[in-house]
Amino acid sequence: MNSINAEKITEGAAYFRETQFLQDVIHGLSQSPKSLPCKYFYDERGSILFTEICKTEEYYITSTELTLLDEILPDIARLVGRNANIIEYGSGEGRKIRHLLAALDNPKSYTPIDISAEILLRSTSQLKREFPQIIIHPVVGDYMSHIRLPEVVASDRINHRVVFFPGSTISNFSPDEAQAFLGRINALLKPGDGLLLGVDLLKSPNRLHEAYNDKEGVTADFNLNLLRRINNELGADFDRHQFEHYAFFNMELSRIEMHLVSLKNQTVHIAGHRFHFKCGETIHTENSYKYTIEDVAKLGIACGFNHIKAWTDHNALFSIHYLMRA
Ligand code: AVI
Repeated sequence: MNSINAEKITEGAAYFRETQFLQDVIHGLSQSPKSLPCKYFYDERGSILFTEICKTEEYYITSTELTLLDEILPDIARLVGRNANIIEYGSGEGRKIRHLLAALDNPKSYTPIDISAEILLRSTSQLKREFPQIIIHPVVGDYMSHIRLPEVVASDRINHRVVFFPGSTISNFSPDEAQAFLGRINALLKPGDGLLLGVDLLKSPNRLHEAYNDKEGVTADFNLNLLRRINNELGADFDRHQFEHYAFFNMELSRIEMHLVSLKNQTVHIAGHRFHFKCGETIHTENSYKYTIEDVAKLGIACGFNHIKAWTDHNALFSIHYLMRA
């Protein structure tokens, strides 16, 4: 999908998203093993549930990243320098960016990129009030595809561009997708421009297991909400009580895997298609890869970056990296 200005989103784009959703669901459930793309977790209810996950005791990622970010802001400001053009992928509600923009030396522009026009419009109108001196130009786009930068950034040949990609969203990409993504970012940048990347770290499998199996069952609801969304938007007849959330750490592939397990033999109908599930068969809904600092440095170097600095919290749960376009 081409990136489009948030203010100009059309009904055609919404229709396109819906048919793409149907195609992806039919495709994923026709595979063996069955799978669904994790980007479809984030309908309105899914986004609220994700925010709730971030507040659970077990899910350390969000709180640890925010605390670490606050600690290292002076270092980041020094590396980024004056008048930078900041571009954020998957900007969402824009909590972390406030801390970053407030700490930087006279940032010139901020380009938030998000798949949801509604979220972008809400978060940027607030940010425009808080940071009237910064040019804020939201772009609706899928960060898995090519993004066209707003003119004000594209035409600025003098000041640095810095891409901000927090929250370890890179964890949800396969290794090939992560390389392709960093390659696309590299193509948006000039030599010396930066990439500020938040990445969850490999750690005790038990700690990881807890983070994706919180006691209150918020992650389970988040996972099962995908079936609800398919029912609501595509007229399917999933019985979500006949599926169970299942998340575990796959040590060999260094990733948390999330699945929905069928609790009986059953058939589900979606837009004229029938899908049979055996008892115990799963739909693979998400991977969340866990990296070491060295893994991130290697990945960055393979994609044309110099790995300038990595910061971690005191318990080595999470990392933030500054990479520079070589
Ligand atoms: C958005 N992403 C980094 C989260 C993660 O940890 O992989 C999504 C998530 N899935 C379950 N809990 C959180």
